[in-house]
Amino acid sequence: MYGMVNLAIQEFISQRFGDPVWQDIKKRAAPDISHFLTMEQYPDDVTVGMVNVAAEITGEKLPSLLDAIGEFWVEFALRSGYGELLRIIGTTLPETLSNLDNMHTRVGLSFPDLKPPSFWCTEVTDHSLILHYQSEREGLGQMVPGTVRGLAAMLNTTASVQQIADREDGADHNRYLVTFGTEREG
Ligand code: HEM
Repeated sequence: MYGMVNLAIQEFISQRFGDPVWQDIKKRAAPDISHFLTMEQYPDDVTVGMVNVAAEITGEKLPSLLDAIGEFWVEFALRSGYGELLRIIGTTLPETLSNLDNMHTRVGLSFPDLKPPSFWCTEVTDHSLILHYQSEREGLGQMVPGTVRGLAAMLNTTASVQQIADREDGADHNRYLVTFGTEREG
């Protein structure tokens, strides 16, 4: 995984739990790495390890930590030079979610070895859709609800996200019911 993702996780952990906690986590999950570089690639185990160790040390549940990291990721990308790229792909949540693959393809121009996930939408209505997520990687599906809420915030709307199929339970890929722009969601 490119260092940009690890740097976002590092910043998230430091902000939320403080720098000493981050130093502890880094010592355990990435002892041989002095600092992450945005464009450098690191083993996926390092990324997943950091989040696992963070959950262990802080007592937070892993899924809720991944969810919060997903939300943070959008905000991090917006202020890391990718704001325009994120904003031009859509003005509504369905449009933006449907264009994430195009966006990652563009991102791949700067990150040549990118192995991006794939997202697509079905059953789109004015206030709901099914979001499909497919990845070569395992264990990051819990980030998706947070990223969707982050994108909704970027678009000045709100979304609630419920996972309805999980690859870890034998489904072909993960699916999420996304409800947006209604009075009821939270
Ligand atoms: C323009 C802003 C964005 C940039 C620059 C970006 C870049 C990246 C990079 C560098 C990776 C690591 C992949 C690798 O190293 O092979 C990644 C992975 C990922 N991205 Fe994006 N991304 C952006 C926006 C988004 C958004 C808005 C979503 C929301 C749905 C998203 C979802 C993911 C997920 C879930 C992964 C984890 C890898 C996986 O699931 O296989 N990204 N992205």
